[in-house]
Amino acid sequence: LDIFRRELADIQGVPLFWSIAEEWSQVESFEARPDDILISTYPKSGTTWVSEILDLIYNNGDVEKCKRDAIYNRVPFMELIIPGITNGIEQLKNMQSPRLVKTHLPVQLLPSSLWKNDCKMIYVARNAKDVAVSYYYFHQMAKIHPDPGTWEEFLHNFMAGNVCFGSWYDHVKGWWEKRKDYRILYLFYEDMKEDPKCSLHKLLKFLEKELPEETVDKILYHSSFDVMKQNPSANYTTMASEMDHSVSPFMRKGISGDWKNHFTVAQYERFEEDYAKKMKGSTLQFRSEI
Ligand code: PPS
Repeated sequence: LDIFRRELADIQGVPLFWSIAEEWSQVESFEARPDDILISTYPKSGTTWVSEILDLIYNNGDVEKCKRDAIYNRVPFMELIIPGITNGIEQLKNMQSPRLVKTHLPVQLLPSSLWKNDCKMIYVARNAKDVAVSYYYFHQMAKIHPDPGTWEEFLHNFMAGNVCFGSWYDHVKGWWEKRKDYRILYLFYEDMKEDPKCSLHKLLKFLEKELPEETVDKILYHSSFDVMKQNPSANYTTMASEMDHSVSPFMRKGISGDWKNHFTVAQYERFEEDYAKKMKGSTLQFRSEI
C-alpha cells in the first residue's frame, strides 16, 4: 500500500511520518483547552499504559465504560494524520472535555496553544535500550514505519536519531528541562513497573483527584500488562490493517531489561559510550540497575 512503509519527512530537523509533515500546519494550529491533559512520551515508553490508567481515573474505575472504544479513540494521538485512516486533530475537535491527548512530539515541536493554556502534562520516560528494542519490534509490525532493516542497522539509526520522532536523547532531556516551567509530571516506566501503586498515587495527586482505595486497586488490576494484553480496547488488535500482530504483538513483553536479550556485548559498549556523551551535563538519571 502506497501510504505505508514510506521514508520519513523532516520537520525542523526532526524525522516524522511523511503524512504528519504534509499536514504540519494543521498540527501547529491545534487548539488546546485549559482542561486538556497531555500524555507525552517518546514512542514505546508506556504511552498506552498511562493512557489506560488515565481513562480509568477519569471514569472513576468504571471498567465497562473504559471498554467503550479503542484506546486510540479514547485518547487520540494528536499529531497522527494518515489520509483516509486517521486525523488526531479532527478527532480531538469533536471530543468533549476533559480530553486526554496523546503526543510523541519533542518539546520544541509541541503546538504553542498547549503551553499558552498551561495544560497539565504527564511525561513518561523509559530507559533507552528497552525503548530501542521495543521500537525495533514495532517497526516490524506497524506498517506505517519504514522497514527497520536488521537490529544492528536499526540500533544505529536509533542512536543517530534517525527514526520517527527523532532523537530519544533530545526528547527525554527536552521534556525534563520544561518541567521546571510548566505543569509537567515526569514519570519513569521503570518506577511504574516496580511500584505501580505509588505511580498511580502520584498521578492522582497531580490531577487533584481522590479515589477510594478499592477503586485504586481496581485500576491497578485493569491496567496491569496481562489484563491489558487481553483487552481488545487496550491492545491495538482492532487496528488490523495498519499493524500485523502475528509479526509481533503491540503488547509484546511489558518488562524492564529486555534489552539484555538483544544487545551484543559490542553493541552494549558502543551504546553506553555514546549515551554518556549525549546525556552529559543533564541532571536526568535513569536507574542504573536496568
Ligand atoms: S506507542 O506505540 O509509542 O504508543 O507505544 P507505548 O504504549 O508507548 O509503548 C508500548 C510498550 O509498552 C508496553 N506496555 C506495558 N508495559 C507494562 N505494563 C502495561 N500495562 C503495558 N502496556 C503496554 C508494551 O508492551 C510495549 O513495550 P514492549 O517492551 O515492546 O513490550
